[in-house]
Amino acid sequence: MSAPLPGEGPRASAVRAMFDRVAPSYDLLNRVMSLRIDQVWRGRLLRDLAPRPGETMLDLCAGTMDIAAMARRRVTGLRIVGADFSFGMLSRGVKKTGLPASQADALALPFKPASFDLATVTFGMRNLDSYEAGLAELARVLRPGGRLGVLEFFRPESTGTRAVHVAINKIMVPVMGRILSPDPDAYRYLVKSMERFAARPEFEEGARRNGFRDVKGETLFPGMCGLVTAVKA
Ligand SMILES: C[S@@+](CC[C@H](N)C(=O)[O-])C[C@H]1O[C@@H](n2cnc3c(N)ncnc32)[C@H](O)[C@@H]1O
Repeated sequence: MSAPLPGEGPRASAVRAMFDRVAPSYDLLNRVMSLRIDQVWRGRLLRDLAPRPGETMLDLCAGTMDIAAMARRRVTGLRIVGADFSFGMLSRGVKKTGLPASQADALALPFKPASFDLATVTFGMRNLDSYEAGLAELARVLRPGGRLGVLEFFRPESTGTRAVHVAINKIMVPVMGRILSPDPDAYRYLVKSMERFAARPEFEEGARRNGFRDVKGETLFPGMCGLVTAVKA
């Protein structure tokens, strides 16, 4: 395992090592497991955030930089920077997009206050030691009025959505993870991290407590994926 990054604790180091291991197969597995619906969700997030030419966007927990790549295709003149603590994931993203990126922990970002007009975090928040600390750090680096968009596998709440969650995540994901992934443990982690994470309304409250206003949430796929947008107060 490589040396800890500034601000990185032991749990974060283990999560980073896991993402470094899955990085070579990450894009392929994502597409196969989600039947490309993940790209539809990313498109929806960008439509809601409506980036404009000349603005500066942070893609935090950027991984292989899928949403950064999509934003670049859609908005000419948008400046995009990726940040992620896994060198394995990020180096693939940089190769894929040619965009600049910084290897950094989401809880200790190497950017000045108010550096960005908008920020995206797709499927990254639930990995952080504290999503509230992550939101506070995002609020610090966004300018007042800056927009945040989060896609996440929030903890399912109702009996119905729990049933969908169990079918997809306890049966389908582990089986496909075992067949397709060099690291099936990573897919067990995916399911566990989802169950440990906040439900969407809790997360929205966390955003209000940590420097955001106009917080809006929507379920994109019951029992699985939610979208939250907010404006830096
Ligand atoms: C499930 S992947 C999502 C990647 C990408 N955003 C996507 O939509 O495909 C989660 C990413 O969050 C990153 N990550 C997790 N915890 C982090 C932290 N504390 N600081 C920075 N990046 C982190 C991981 O390295 C990984 O690349």
